[in-house]
Amino acid sequence: MFPWGEPGVGKSALLEYAGERAGGIAVRALGVESEVELEFSALLEVCRPLLRWLDEVPAPQAAALRGALGLGPRRSTRSWSARRG
Ligand SMILES: Nc1ncnc2c1ncn2[C@@H]1O[C@H](COP(=O)(O)OP(=O)(O)OP(=O)(O)O)[C@@H](O)[C@H]1O
Ligand SMILES: [Mg+2]
Repeated sequence: MFPWGEPGVGKSALLEYAGERAGGIAVRALGVESEVELEFSALLEVCRPLLRWLDEVPAPQAAALRGALGLGPRRSTRSWSARRG
């Protein structure tokens, strides 16, 4: 869900409600203008409650995620395209 609208229109209340109704695990991220220069800051926010399961992610994807989130060494884009091919 990507609610948008005027301040106070009820976006957070709607997300809260949807999260409660969804069951399972609901993750969310908030766009913050001051973080616009930070790579993957929203991804980190979304993934943070899920990181406890990172060891269950296949090694290449886990390494890429760790690199993107600043939790491990960064992999080059080139190695990704080589692997995709
Ligand atoms: N459906 C609703 N009925 C009654 N009150 C509501 C409803 N939705 C939101 N409100 C109330 O309106 C106020 C603003 O709601 P909320 O914080 O969800 O807005 P928002 O869009 O997230 O605002 P912001 O842009 O400032 O983050 C809160 O006090 C909330 O309790
Ligand atoms: Mg809000």
